[in-house]
Amino acid sequence: MGPPGTGKTLGAQVLSVELGLPFYDISGLVKGQNAPIGQLFGALRDIAKKSKKGLIAFIDEVEGLSSRKEVVDPLQYQALTQFLTEMQGVKNNHGIFMIGTTNRANDLDEAIRSRFDEEVEFLPPDKKGRYEILKIHANKKGGHKFEVTEKDLEKLADKSYGYVGRDLKQVLNRSFTHAKKSGSNKVNFEDLEYGIKKTKPSAIRDMPFIEPDVKFEDLAGYEDHKALLESILDKTEENVILFYGPKGTGKTLMAEAVAGQYGYNYILLKGSELESKWVGESKDNVEKVIARAKQLSPCVVCFDEISSFVERRGVLSHKDSQTGYMQSVLSRPPQGVYIIGTDNNPDFLRGPFMDRFVHKLYFGKPTEKDQLALWKKYAPKVNAKQLLKIRKDLSCRDIAYTCKRITEFGAELNLETIRKMIRGIPEDEDVKKYEEVIKEVGDGVEDYRRLK
Ligand SMILES: Nc1ncnc2c1ncn2[C@@H]1O[C@H](COP(=O)(O)OP(=O)(O)OP(=O)(O)O)[C@@H](O)[C@H]1O
Ligand SMILES: [Mg+2]
Repeated sequence: MGPPGTGKTLGAQVLSVELGLPFYDISGLVKGQNAPIGQLFGALRDIAKKSKKGLIAFIDEVEGLSSRKEVVDPLQYQALTQFLTEMQGVKNNHGIFMIGTTNRANDLDEAIRSRFDEEVEFLPPDKKGRYEILKIHANKKGGHKFEVTEKDLEKLADKSYGYVGRDLKQVLNRSFTHAKKSGSNKVNFEDLEYGIKKTKPSAIRDMPFIEPDVKFEDLAGYEDHKALLESILDKTEENVILFYGPKGTGKTLMAEAVAGQYGYNYILLKGSELESKWVGESKDNVEKVIARAKQLSPCVVCFDEISSFVERRGVLSHKDSQTGYMQSVLSRPPQGVYIIGTDNNPDFLRGPFMDRFVHKLYFGKPTEKDQLALWKKYAPKVNAKQLLKIRKDLSCRDIAYTCKRITEFGAELNLETIRKMIRGIPEDEDVKKYEEVIKEVGDGVEDYRRLK
């Protein structure tokens, strides 16, 4: 089981060759109406008995077998029931190795799924896997006459996260065609880049993957935060970090910048979206995300407004719940997966859940120095010191959005227009609440400053 294009069918075929077992594709037969199931299994048993080693009976896309609940045609019902009975007898079916594939394991009828003794998951390849796949297909043994350097393939493997085997093959084909158009059998990196641009990665289509758009240098100020994060990330391959503090202080943006800075993959799960399928009673979806993140590691997974992922159940019990699952992930994240939670909800922050975070970084309102940097970034021509004389309590978001709004209103960005806008921004009463929270939770950045 696993997403399309990850080599499930090919895997079964390879097994048959490696083990020297004949391969019988019975997909069409068992899915057809009035399928002669009894005869089919009788024949398979005969063949298996005669051959010393046995055989592989293969069913592609087993989810295509209807469930007994859905079938209306009595003959088909009979066939399906018989199929299930025959499958049950697989242990007596000596020498018949049944292999089914599916990319929708969760949609499988339980009666069918439980008939299989083993489940093998085919996940999208990691960097090394992608390189191996590319090498096989770029190799001239494939019968073509194109040349690609190993170094370029390595670079391509680096860039092609989320691409499954089938995608990678297509990337190469497109690159070859592109090279050929310019009349060359030598495929250079430009051709490969063309190929990858023209091919969508399968593995991330159904996941909230985001291409990180910012790096540390794109965030104004907060230099100690950046330095601390760098030292954390340079030293370990797994981490569980919380960014907390008042709204609009760049927590969510910093999570993206961490991924961007290191060139890691980035998954953003937004707790604030009520419709989000990632937040809810079931742990299945979050579990899927973590599994995919592991496969595409190094990967940053940001639980934005993490309180929404756990608050619903609140307490620490319920092993099956999302809360329970979140707890276990936070306690032991898979290698190469960096988990960043963000939150601005002071009440939540005091809960027992907090202990799971190795690092807790407080994102306070920007200091005067940070504010100068922010104004300089968003209104480079305006005298920032003058602006601080008007307001010193604005958040990063206040500053960024004020400048955006002025420009979008078609006005000029100057001292006067900014003054008019920022006067009206209400004070953030919540900030005071954090003093208590910091006492209870700690402030990783302050600790870091002290140590330094
Ligand atoms: N350090 C920064 N440098 C430049 N712009 C920033 C910075 N921090 C925040 N911003 C701007 O403010 C916006 C809001 O920041 P962000 O959404 O990351 O805040 P947040 O702390 O996650 O807030 P909330 O608690 O409300 O979710 C960003 O999209 C960006 O435009
Ligand atoms: Mg946020």
